[in-house]
Amino acid sequence: MDRIIYHGHSFIEIKHKNDTVYIDPFIEGNPLCDINLADSSCNYIILTHGHGDHFGDTVTLSKGKDVKVIATAELSYYLDAKGVKTHAMNLGGAYDFPFGRVKLTLAHHSSSTPDGTYAGDPAGILITSGSKTVFHSGDTALFYDMKLIGETSKIDYAFLPIGDNFTMGVDDAVKAAEYLKADTIVPVHYNTFDVIRADAHDFRRKIESIGKKCLVMNPGDEIKL
Ligand code: NI
Ligand code: MN
Repeated sequence: MDRIIYHGHSFIEIKHKNDTVYIDPFIEGNPLCDINLADSSCNYIILTHGHGDHFGDTVTLSKGKDVKVIATAELSYYLDAKGVKTHAMNLGGAYDFPFGRVKLTLAHHSSSTPDGTYAGDPAGILITSGSKTVFHSGDTALFYDMKLIGETSKIDYAFLPIGDNFTMGVDDAVKAAEYLKADTIVPVHYNTFDVIRADAHDFRRKIESIGKKCLVMNPGDEIKL
């Protein structure tokens, strides 16, 4: 992995050599997104679950293009039927892609597509490439088994929701960071809509008070790995 770029809400982009990987590409209708759909392209999309603010523009970005969508089985089959190339996985499974090893983890949330189709279980995503591991928790509640994820993977960067209402809020995300033993935490899934307003600087203070690093990213900001 060379770079990680944040595009607002839960949309992150990973650059690895010539590969571009979009995670949860919510562009149209995302008031925080810094890029236009017309200017966007990638080789891979990884989806945490089917909700519209994560599924986003997946079909437009991938249909009829050389783009592979990695998602849980039910979500993959839904996309297959729309003529999208997919790679189905499920919770606990890992697979080596050219850009790195992807493992799907548990997430405690729900999952359906924007048209209401059941989309299986939601997931978190661990990506290991070279010596770096990045964790994108997807939408989730705090749960105790995050400790197990932290015990079995040495996480360099964890992207965790802090917006409350649909997911963990600030205090639960601080507890999650502790369980995950991640080196640096990046807050996501907040301030996109009124119902998920959260104070990222309050989150940063609380993360620093447990001896961890917190990186508050603005859309367009990047991490060089
Ligand atoms: Ni969701
Ligand atoms: Mn969401």
